[in-house]
Amino acid sequence: GKGAYDHYMLKEIHEQPTSLANAIRGRVDARDGAITFEEFDLDVLDPVTQVHFVACGTSYHAALYASRLLNEAGVPSRAIRASEYVESAGPIAGGTLTVAVTQSGETADTLSALREASAHGAPTVAVTNVVGSTAAREADETLYIRAGPEIGVAATKTFTSQAVTLTLLSQVVAGEIDGASPREDLADLLAALERLPEDVEQVMDLDQAERLADRILDYESYFFIGRGLARSVALEGALKFKEITYEHAEGFASGQLKHGPLALVTPETPIFALFTGEETEKTVTNAQEAQTRGAEIIAVGPPDCAGAQISDAHLTVPDTHPVCQGLLANVQLQLVAYHTADRFGRSIDKPRNLAKSVTVE
Ligand code: F6R
Repeated sequence: GKGAYDHYMLKEIHEQPTSLANAIRGRVDARDGAITFEEFDLDVLDPVTQVHFVACGTSYHAALYASRLLNEAGVPSRAIRASEYVESAGPIAGGTLTVAVTQSGETADTLSALREASAHGAPTVAVTNVVGSTAAREADETLYIRAGPEIGVAATKTFTSQAVTLTLLSQVVAGEIDGASPREDLADLLAALERLPEDVEQVMDLDQAERLADRILDYESYFFIGRGLARSVALEGALKFKEITYEHAEGFASGQLKHGPLALVTPETPIFALFTGEETEKTVTNAQEAQTRGAEIIAVGPPDCAGAQISDAHLTVPDTHPVCQGLLANVQLQLVAYHTADRFGRSIDKPRNLAKSVTVE
């Protein structure tokens, strides 16, 4: 049951310190900078020269995170919306590791992309939460995210567990592929992943999101911007917000704002600007362009992040490894979406028109 919580979603947000500890348990040795996956045959990576992630919705945003990390490590990689797989995957060969990212393991679009890749001879991996799910049964190898059951339709703890599991996978793949290599600061990243449960706890103890929610109820649209890894967090922040508040929300790459969406920016459109990760300077300029049009800037990032000086409000995250900062920012945005939806009296655990698992294409 929900226990002391009003909604499963809030309970699941609060379960993240535990689910994130589970995601790395037995897989990470920070002292040696080593990652090991039990029951995962690394031979599946032998022919691999590039990686495609296929996924939908929130899982697609986790895939974007991992894809970015792989590209940085020298492995050509793309995150592809599973529903657009046929149009956008391009030629698939035996060298294309195809990773289906699906919490439920049952999303029809994602399964269909997985089958298509497999039919072309691509080695496949499922990254899923559900043991015995279709994706787990059909893929060559499976990595479980170990988040525990998620009842709320809006994905929360499964997103952070996917992002962490995929971060590990990205570094393992980078270590196996010619011409690529894991991050030089891998040991630091692993140490930060071990601290992530405490950092998430800290974010929740701040109670900033609930106070912010009280004063953002009368706006027209809500925008979320970020660059690099933070772009996926911005997209996910907007998806979560629109799903459960029923308010219009959009996420953009920061640099995209001035190519169109800026036309919508007014004093009625607050901007959540992500200042996490390694690419934050230009987002300052992009946020200021919106601020000049009267928009309120809500910075999300460490206390002394690049946006701290210019922002009208600040949701802080503990200062940690840049790769982990975005995940903490995501927790802040989960809480903002939750508390805003709660103020509006929405059906948080079962938003209208949505299903937990979408089993038709
Ligand atoms: C968002 C959400 C959906 C799912 C998407 C994929 O909160 O829950 O966008 O992320 O339908 O679902 P899975 O991961 O089960 O394939």
